[in-house]
Amino acid sequence: MDIEEAKKELQRILTEKRYNHSLGTMKMAKELAKVYGEDEEKAAFAGLIHDIAKEMPQDKIMEYVKLHNIKMDKIEEKQLGLMHAKLGASIAKEKYNCDEEIQKAILYHTTGNKKMDRFAKIIYLADKTEENRTYEEVEKLRKMAKEDLNGALLFTLDFTIQKSIRNKRLIHPDTIDLRNYLLS
Ligand SMILES: [Fe+2]
Ligand SMILES: [Fe+2]
Repeated sequence: MDIEEAKKELQRILTEKRYNHSLGTMKMAKELAKVYGEDEEKAAFAGLIHDIAKEMPQDKIMEYVKLHNIKMDKIEEKQLGLMHAKLGASIAKEKYNCDEEIQKAILYHTTGNKKMDRFAKIIYLADKTEENRTYEEVEKLRKMAKEDLNGALLFTLDFTIQKSIRNKRLIHPDTIDLRNYLLS
């Protein structure tokens, strides 16, 4: 878990925009970890590398999936981009020797999952509220994330589900499960 080494690697493989998003997520993850008493250095690292597999070309994704025997569900088969979460978690383990808490946070950062712990929620929200994000509700969500983690999570889920509906995109059942779980 060498943060400088990871930065160099990310700078090499990601576009400038995504690299900056990764740095922003690192910063926000650290801030939120401080608020909630989680390990700040671990949160920073997880935030930094959460999108490490995001720009992997399709053939490389398939190669990696086969090589590491990673399972794909029906939604992932149709929206291959979702796989960057599973691949990112795997790379975190294989390449950076990250512990399970970090692996799970990366695994759940795209669809969400009702098994998310507080650390995973922090990474999920850091990704959505980092300083380069500019959507309309982001200021409100930034404030909320520091005051009410579950409330902010629910707000984000509603927002992303509505966006998926508008864009006629598939909604992963894990996202719905998490929302139902938070509401009940
Ligand atoms: Fe992502
Ligand atoms: Fe991201």
